[in-house]
Amino acid sequence: MSFPSERLRRLRRTPALRGLARETILEPADLVLPLFIRPGKNEKRAIKSMPGVFQFSTDQAVKALVPAIASGIRAVILFGIPDKKDAEASGAYAADGVVQVAARAIKAKFPGVAVIADLCFCEYMDHGHCGVVQKGEVLNDATLELSAKTAVSQAEAGCDIVAPSGMMDGQVAAIRKALDASGRESTAILAYAAKYASAFYGPFRDAAESPPSFGDRSSYQMDPANLREAMREVSLDIQEGADMVMVKPALAYLDVLRRVADAFRVPCAAYSVSGEYAMIKAAAGRGWIDERRAAMESLLCIKRAGADFVITYHAVDAARWLREAADAAFSRAGSRRGK
Ligand code: PBG
Repeated sequence: MSFPSERLRRLRRTPALRGLARETILEPADLVLPLFIRPGKNEKRAIKSMPGVFQFSTDQAVKALVPAIASGIRAVILFGIPDKKDAEASGAYAADGVVQVAARAIKAKFPGVAVIADLCFCEYMDHGHCGVVQKGEVLNDATLELSAKTAVSQAEAGCDIVAPSGMMDGQVAAIRKALDASGRESTAILAYAAKYASAFYGPFRDAAESPPSFGDRSSYQMDPANLREAMREVSLDIQEGADMVMVKPALAYLDVLRRVADAFRVPCAAYSVSGEYAMIKAAAGRGWIDERRAAMESLLCIKRAGADFVITYHAVDAARWLREAADAAFSRAGSRRGK
């Protein structure tokens, strides 16, 4: 069958027909909101390269969650910005570390929200690398001990999921073992399995105050040229006990996402990173692009490429826009607003 009997435009004629034919549905439950947590009280600091994103003290983060939850957000990922950094990343596993304090407060106020803790050391190390450094080198196995300790501390603070993002070999196994040994067998692991050494993290390093003081992260994060290697990373992380895996960044790596989603039977996340957000914001700020449409199209396409959920700085706006779109469709259909 082909033209003129086959006409794909038939199903594009009205919004309701397009709704029936739609293959990918984005929902607020698909979105994870990143939160940057500082110590102190009453702090809400704007991040220059990420308009609309803030570093919050715990009390302010809890406050910001009220409208976020009203929009439909059900999951957050926490990044800590400690007061002081050192060579042991002691702020990462302290019982009263920034992430631990925030996780407790969020869980106390909103027990139904899934709390994910980013598990990395770049924000806590004075040199800004994601692991223990000796003679200018990032040590793998010494870092695993810190990862294990940090995971247990985050779990004890009530985090539902720990998300190791340091790209150390064996980190998932080390964390799973430590969690189980401390009676935290229910704490899940979301592995940043295929995390690339990307220029798109630029604004995040402003936000988290975590740029490396020497060199770059290419000796542990992946080469953007590699896809086969991403499959090995994901496969190893699943063997080591990852409950979920992640591809990061998202937009420039949709092929990786597709391959991972097709090949493995665990939930797959995508991280739409700071640079992806900043590009849309910057172009929209100049009137060159429609922020809402560009952001929603990006998120939808990330899901179409295979993501089960997306970490995005647009999470709250996107959840609200999804609600508004659903309401608009409802009134378009001619029904009265229900109670
Ligand atoms: C820490 C970490 C980074 C991001 C998430 N966790 C930065 C990095 O690896 O340099 C980037 C997130 C973003 O750009 O939004 N390891």
